[in-house]
Amino acid sequence: MAQKPPSSDVETSGHDDVVDPGTAVERSTAPQNPGLAPEHQRVTDLDDKEAKGMERRIALFFVLSIVGSVFAAVAYVIFPIIPGDMSSVRMNNLTVGLGLSVALLGVGIGAVQWAKALMHGHELVEERHPTRGSDESRQAAVETFQQANKESGFTRRSLIRNTLFGALIATPIPAVVLFRDLAPAADPIELMKTTMWSEGVRLTRDPSGIPIKASEVTIGSAFHVVPDGWKDLEHGKLEEKAKAAVLLMRLPVDELKEDPAKTDWSYQGIVAYSKICTHVGCPVALYEQQTHHLLCPCHQSEFDVANHCEVIFGPAARPLPQLPITIDAEGYLVARSGFTEPVGPSFWERQL
Ligand code: FES
Repeated sequence: MAQKPPSSDVETSGHDDVVDPGTAVERSTAPQNPGLAPEHQRVTDLDDKEAKGMERRIALFFVLSIVGSVFAAVAYVIFPIIPGDMSSVRMNNLTVGLGLSVALLGVGIGAVQWAKALMHGHELVEERHPTRGSDESRQAAVETFQQANKESGFTRRSLIRNTLFGALIATPIPAVVLFRDLAPAADPIELMKTTMWSEGVRLTRDPSGIPIKASEVTIGSAFHVVPDGWKDLEHGKLEEKAKAAVLLMRLPVDELKEDPAKTDWSYQGIVAYSKICTHVGCPVALYEQQTHHLLCPCHQSEFDVANHCEVIFGPAARPLPQLPITIDAEGYLVARSGFTEPVGPSFWERQL
């Protein structure tokens, strides 16, 4: 078996016999080239009978593949897809898919077995060709470049060239303006703090707009809530709704750890918190009634409703803002005031 060394600066005279042509010092410190591993004789190399048996087994896989292909084609005709009939679609997919699977597996397994068991297993080293181009091709590239420069006048026509550079530098400027447009010109804190909620505004179900009585909010329930009257807005309806969205939940009073300064912000265990995550503003929508945890599906921030919606997990930096609530004369839940802090992502505050 002929073998070639993996590198031209190392010579081998066999699998284990390595000679480093470097200096004496290099010889003592350089790692030795172990050469190629000795070739193992396979049973099919040593025994013709085994090789014949393997040949038959491999041929069997290829025959199986042929059967699978024919089966897939026949199944496509026998089990046609009938428009509107889902069971025909399923049967067609199942039988055709089965046939194709057998066909592909048969070819794959047969080919791998053939390569592993019967094809020659000599290991070869292929020298990588030099990546540097020949002097002629390098010269040709330089000439092409110079010719392009001459024909385009890129160096000669300095006015055009310099104004082109100016145009390329100026191109991103509109992007800056457009990005600025994504942020409101008004004070963002004021904008996010000012919602439709104010004293006496009823809490209504989203999307029906039906006002909610305190008696309807049972322990363990959670309501998606919007302020009464948002549908009547003439401008910015959706923006206002998004900012004012609130989650309403009722907990056993003794499980609610209330801030002494905010005991009148809830009503008999009913609490309302902004639905906009304080991380980057996704809607917090998953409520675990057993643990009283709210989960934001975007980056898994978790808030503890029983404890002022404090962040107990995830990237959110501050609790969800609480909406102070009470009931009106008819027993409907109403806001005591608007939010006392900006809703939504907290980077507004950090930025300013
Ligand atoms: S937006 Fe809620 S965790 Fe990121």
